[in-house]
Amino acid sequence: MTSKNIVKLLNDQIQKEFYSSYLYLSMTAYFKSVNLDGFANFYFIQAQEEKDHALRIFDYMNQIGAKIVLEKIDAPKVDFESIEEVLKLALEHEQFVTKSIHNIVDVALSEKDHSTYSFLQWFINEQVEEEDTADGNLKKFQLVGNDGRGILMIDAELAQRVYTPPVANN
Ligand code: FEO
Repeated sequence: MTSKNIVKLLNDQIQKEFYSSYLYLSMTAYFKSVNLDGFANFYFIQAQEEKDHALRIFDYMNQIGAKIVLEKIDAPKVDFESIEEVLKLALEHEQFVTKSIHNIVDVALSEKDHSTYSFLQWFINEQVEEEDTADGNLKKFQLVGNDGRGILMIDAELAQRVYTPPVANN
C-alpha cells in the first residue's frame, strides 16, 4: 500500500515534469527567436520527453490505484540573455529534478514501498543521462565561446536529435 506521503510526492513529481516540459518549451522559443533551429529542435524534443515522464508517473499511479491530483504549473522563465544562460539553467534544472527523484526514492526505501522503489529506478537512470547531456551541452558551448562557426557546429549536431516515443512498460 502506497502511503499518502508518497502519493503526494508522486503528484508533486508529475507537476515538476510538466513544469520541465514548459521550461524546455520556453527555451525552444528562445532558440527559435535567435534562429538556432538545432538548439530549438533539441529542447523541443526535451519538452516532449518531460511530458512523457509526467505521463509515466500518471500511469503508475493509476496502476496502483493512487489518487491523482494535478497541480498548478507555474510559468517558466521566458527572457534569456544568452545561450550560456539557457544551457546553465537546463543543467541546474536537471540537478533539481534528480534531487527530487532521489528524495522520493529515499522515502520509498524508508517506508519499504518496494513497488514505488522499483518504479523509480528508471528515473534514477534517466537522470544520470539527462544531467550528462545537459553538462555536455554546456561544456561544448564553453569550449567554442562566442565563436559563430563553433556555435553553428553545435547547432548542426543538436539538429540531429530525433524524438523516440516511449515504449510501454520499459
Ligand atoms: Fe524528467 Fe529531465 O527530468
